Amino acid sequence: KKGNYDHFMQKEIHEQPHSLTTTMRGRLRANDVVLGGLKDHLKTIRHSRRIIFIGCGTSYNAALAARPFMEELSGIPVTLELASDLLDRQGVMYREDTAVFVSQSGETADTLLALEYALEHGALCVGITNTVGSTLARKTHCGVHINAGCEIGVASTKAYTSQIVVMVMMALAIGADKISTQSKREAIINSLPDLPNKVSEVLKLDNEMKDLAESLIEVQSLLVFGRGYNYATALEGALKVKEVALTHSEGMLAGEMKHGPLALVDETLPIIVIATRDACFSKQQSVIQQLHARKGRLIVMCSNGDASSVCPSESCRVIEVPQVADCLQPVINIVPLQLLAYHLTVLRGYDVDQPRNLAKSVTTQ
Ligand code: UD1
Ligand code: F6R
Repeated sequence: KKGNYDHFMQKEIHEQPHSLTTTMRGRLRANDVVLGGLKDHLKTIRHSRRIIFIGCGTSYNAALAARPFMEELSGIPVTLELASDLLDRQGVMYREDTAVFVSQSGETADTLLALEYALEHGALCVGITNTVGSTLARKTHCGVHINAGCEIGVASTKAYTSQIVVMVMMALAIGADKISTQSKREAIINSLPDLPNKVSEVLKLDNEMKDLAESLIEVQSLLVFGRGYNYATALEGALKVKEVALTHSEGMLAGEMKHGPLALVDETLPIIVIATRDACFSKQQSVIQQLHARKGRLIVMCSNGDASSVCPSESCRVIEVPQVADCLQPVINIVPLQLLAYHLTVLRGYDVDQPRNLAKSVTTQ
């Protein structure tokens, strides 16, 4: 049921204030987070030698977004694996590892094969999925349902933001016994209930993103530069544009810019730079300066009120978004890029909900 919307992807993007609310429902307490599916396993997780996140596509990107906070709060090394690559390499895994499998459908073949592999190696296997009763939910030792509601559009949108919030809550639960991060932890827990309101605010950019899409109808290629908490936003924003608008786009780590991508910069190639306020802000300011000096066609995403301080010239387009805690900022920042991908697809006349060659759930290798 699409209701008042033309497409499921559009509905699911606009549903995010609600899906995030249901993801958090019953799980927040005063200064605490309770994940029913993990509480008996937190001790084992805290004693693990490493936390490995494993997934494909958007689910992998969600884990990438959550990694910095997971490392900060757990004090445990956190690594990431694309499920197919872990299998191709037969990567090293130990009994002392916690392997966290992230999958909206819970039925992705590569992710399930990686789960078999981790089970054989004796790791604690944790699932993060949207699908109750899925193979992932049944075969993992424990886990968390993201409760985002059924996602129908092939391009994952609301599941992505709910996955990030679940992994942030997981980090908060794991970090409950660590003194040094207590005040930050409590500040994040107390800001979570307001996150859906901030998402409603950023959804008001819908028309602005449609205008931006109109200006990009003819482009052959698009780059997205992010770093820190928003490296994932760059990868995920580019993936959305690629898969639904059928436009080549690449997300890049801004720290790698001088190691190759800078050669691509000219007046025609649009480059989205994510420069919201966090510890990486000044580094992103200098990236913008360098791209501007090479006459790059810039689109800058920044925090509300920062447009004049981050934009080097009138020609630079700005996307201003509400500021939230650094670990939650990826939830806000992806929304304008989801809207951009959606509008670009509609304007180009492509199928939004069933992109060419793709299936909602990839159950073969
Ligand atoms: C559970 C109930 C929820 C109820 C709440 C009340 C279910 C599915 N959830 O939610 O309806 O409102 O208690 O306290 O009945 N699991 C895995 N692997 C996964 C995902 C989950 O093993 O990939 C396991 C968990 O470890 C847990 C169970 O499935 O044992 C349910 O997980 P979840 O729905 O996240 O738990 P609650 O939030 O406590
Ligand atoms: C992108 C997309 C895919 C999936 C990937 C994993 O929008 O939907 O990249 O994220 O196929 O699917 P799940 O999360 O179901 O394992």
